[in-house]
Amino acid sequence: FNLNEKKSLLNKTVLITAGPTYEAIDPVRFIGNHSSGKMGFSLAEEAAKRGAKVILISGPSSLNSKHENIELHRVTSAKQMLDKVFEFYDTIDVGIASAAVADYAPKVVASEKIKKSEDTFTVELIKNPDILKTMGEKKTHQFLVGFALETQNEEENAKGKLEKKNLDMIVLNSLRDEGAGFKQDTNKIKIFTKEEKIEYDLKSKENVAQDILDCIEAQILK
Ligand code: C5P
Repeated sequence: FNLNEKKSLLNKTVLITAGPTYEAIDPVRFIGNHSSGKMGFSLAEEAAKRGAKVILISGPSSLNSKHENIELHRVTSAKQMLDKVFEFYDTIDVGIASAAVADYAPKVVASEKIKKSEDTFTVELIKNPDILKTMGEKKTHQFLVGFALETQNEEENAKGKLEKKNLDMIVLNSLRDEGAGFKQDTNKIKIFTKEEKIEYDLKSKENVAQDILDCIEAQILK
């Protein structure tokens, strides 16, 4: 037991979404993305170290967490992630959406493996629920944090999302910087709250998680 470890989030419940979602096309195929879940699992680990009770809801990821404060729920699709989030939503103090949720899912899921036939094949897609936006709409006391990954007008778009999704904080991932983002162990972020903008250097995702939680603490414990 390390006496120097600060338990600054004791008695707080933090819900984190992580990883990609997989949207089934048929029993053996899906639409997904390359998110590793690293950012979300790093956030979970850091929040747990600080004494929080952590509910980690992850899409398919090879990562694991062993901290006793982390309750890990594995889901596959966006719909399952949404349902899982709302099993806990009333009980949480902080919600952090770091999952790379698929924007669209196949409109119909074939019950049998689709056979190859024609030269072209079309899958009709339908918009997935926006989990974080739904959390924002149902917000009563929860402090909500989102992520944004933009390729143009990044600051404007990030701030737009803060408003539109009714968030308290948004973390902008830079795509322009070498070593930041998907499948990387490092990240370079800017954080926006309603009043502030803070820029950080390129860091390991573990250190980025510390910065994000420091920033959340500064807001919720003030
Ligand atoms: O709108 P956009 O996808 O850029 O927003 C990104 C933020 O919204 C991330 O925090 C992501 O986890 C969350 N999100 C979500 N459900 C979706 C799409 C995005 O929770 N269907």
